[in-house]
Amino acid sequence: MYVELKNVVKTYDSYRAADNIDLSIEEGRLVALLGPSGSGKTTILRMIAGLERQNSGDIIIGGRVVNDVPGSERGIGFVFQNYALFRYMTVFDNIAFGLEIQKQDKQVIRRRVEELLALTDLTGLEKRYPNQLSGGQRQRVAFARAIAPNPRLLLLDEPFAAIDAKVRKDLRAWLRSTISSLGVTSIFVTHDQEEAIEVADEIVVTNHGRIEQVGTPMEICIEPKTPFVAEFIGRGKRVSNIGAFRGFARWGHMAAIIQPEFVHVYLPGEDAGASGDALQPAIVQDVAFRGANWALRLACCGEELSAFRSLEAPPVHPGDPVRLSVSRAQGIAGEQTEPLYPEGT
Ligand SMILES: Nc1ncnc2c1ncn2[C@@H]1O[C@H](COP(=O)(O)OP(=O)(O)OP(=O)(O)O)[C@@H](O)[C@H]1O
Ligand SMILES: [Mg+2]
Repeated sequence: MYVELKNVVKTYDSYRAADNIDLSIEEGRLVALLGPSGSGKTTILRMIAGLERQNSGDIIIGGRVVNDVPGSERGIGFVFQNYALFRYMTVFDNIAFGLEIQKQDKQVIRRRVEELLALTDLTGLEKRYPNQLSGGQRQRVAFARAIAPNPRLLLLDEPFAAIDAKVRKDLRAWLRSTISSLGVTSIFVTHDQEEAIEVADEIVVTNHGRIEQVGTPMEICIEPKTPFVAEFIGRGKRVSNIGAFRGFARWGHMAAIIQPEFVHVYLPGEDAGASGDALQPAIVQDVAFRGANWALRLACCGEELSAFRSLEAPPVHPGDPVRLSVSRAQGIAGEQTEPLYPEGT
């Protein structure tokens, strides 16, 4: 394990911002800390970076307990949410900053900065100042500056938060391939589940200062271990009585989360194939265009469901009576969850 947190607690007054955090991260992994606002993501990152001191517990990096090691000696690169570039320094000098501090040879610095400019696709912009760059370019400068001294561990706090949607998507893909080509262990914070799912090898879901679940993006999406994760990931709706849905009667009044991917909607007369027997009536409440499909809100069995509908299927409208089947739900019993499939499947 390259990074380990053991029983780490951080309190602000009486509030536990990090509540007994146990976490192990393998060398070379790209890990996302994902959770709602205030769940402790930045606190965890800042403790690893040595910018914040835990009240108790151990932080281990590369096999060494670093509790008493200052941040500057932990071999870490940090990319902050709002770039935090030096405004009065050129792109070149920003990237060279960490190397200047290490008092490296001028020739060595020049070569390294040129290499990083190429890696971050900023060649030709080295004489510019931060205010002469776009948001995406600034963020790449911040990235280049963080990795210039060859850190063993890279920490990124919401690196794309201030960037518009399209550039953000490009940067995600870029970050993923750049980090994996460098092979540097990286932890990045986000509250955007799509971002975590797309970028990370492994996702750590945080909630109220605790870790709810650690897993690959697929495990987090398909096998949520806690009610919180089941509800937080995806665009599912919580129903209080799964037993009311066709095929789920044996679970009675159990609560469940139903994800839109598993709700199949048919207009009267539309071929429902194999799910024909399990259909039940529903009313379309709302239809919204989502670019790749329609997002539907439906009333069914006294509950509200969401579903997607292909742009190629006949359109549905609010108020339309339809029929639907549910092919999977995530049942919630106390603090546990379990996947539920309708009878006969
Ligand atoms: N310096 C501080 N003093 C007091 N409370 C703090 C301090 N820093 C953070 N907190 C509290 O600790 C909790 C966790 O904060 P943290 O910044 O780690 O959340 P986060 O998950 O990064 O949230 P966001 O997504 O909004 O950035 C919050 O309730 C916050 O108010
Ligand atoms: Mg934060």
